[in-house]
Amino acid sequence: MPKNIILLGPPGAGKGTQAKRLEAERNMVQLSTGDMLREAKSSGTEMGRRVAEIMDKGQLVTDEIVIGLIEEKLEQGAAARDFGGFIFDGFPRTLKQADALEDLMARKGQTLDAVIEMQVDDAALVRRITGRFTCGNCGAVYHDETKPTRVAGTCDVCGSTDLRRRADDNEEALKTRLMEYYKKTSPLIGYYYAKGKLAAVDGLGEMDAVAAAIAKVLDKG
Ligand code: AP5
Repeated sequence: MPKNIILLGPPGAGKGTQAKRLEAERNMVQLSTGDMLREAKSSGTEMGRRVAEIMDKGQLVTDEIVIGLIEEKLEQGAAARDFGGFIFDGFPRTLKQADALEDLMARKGQTLDAVIEMQVDDAALVRRITGRFTCGNCGAVYHDETKPTRVAGTCDVCGSTDLRRRADDNEEALKTRLMEYYKKTSPLIGYYYAKGKLAAVDGLGEMDAVAAAIAKVLDKG
């Protein structure tokens, strides 16, 4: 039975890392608005240019843009065989986005099964963000200290040498990203708690331990 979940947490909490594992292990489909916006950013369009300016400063892009992107992807995603469910990664980030998601899911006859809050303290977030790099070809996520590539400069997954650091992964933009999270996104914790959907996991542990905690939530009920 497919399960649809939200991974909720501050920048660097490990949402993308765990979403990629769930895709590989459970055939789930990751819907990351950050990835979608980075794609738009590199498209060279006027919309992409405006998005780049906002993202690089660490601010949130408008609700209308991200809701439109998610709606488009929801159409395509569930077509996969043995579909294991959607992982919403970095969406919703405001109450308006949460309401829009509920409407979209209802229209498609889908339900939201769990909202997994990944708890990590700010000092660890800074270390994670400043050491992160990703594969420009397949999106695999690495870290200088906690998850280096096996061969320096080469992606373990696809062998690409196109390894990149994000423009917003610096201490200045991170301060804004954290403030945006606490001001606009953290109210969602109470919102989903009230709906009986919230499950918190300790995101500070080793990646395998965090994955096991998430699996426990998914396998419940
Ligand atoms: P987005 O791309 O969503 O970024 P984010 O939420 O800031 O989250 P990150 O991708 O930085 O972190 P993560 O939690 O995925 O951590 P990761 O697994 O990589 O958004 C970027 C921007 O796009 C926003 O600022 C905004 O401008 C815009 N945007 C996106 N969605 C939007 C929306 N809905 N509305 C409006 N605007 C939107 O891990 C981080 C590092 O830590 C990695 O190096 C990893 O290897 C390492 N790591 C992971 N887990 C562990 C562990 N357990 N132990 C040790 N290291 C670990």
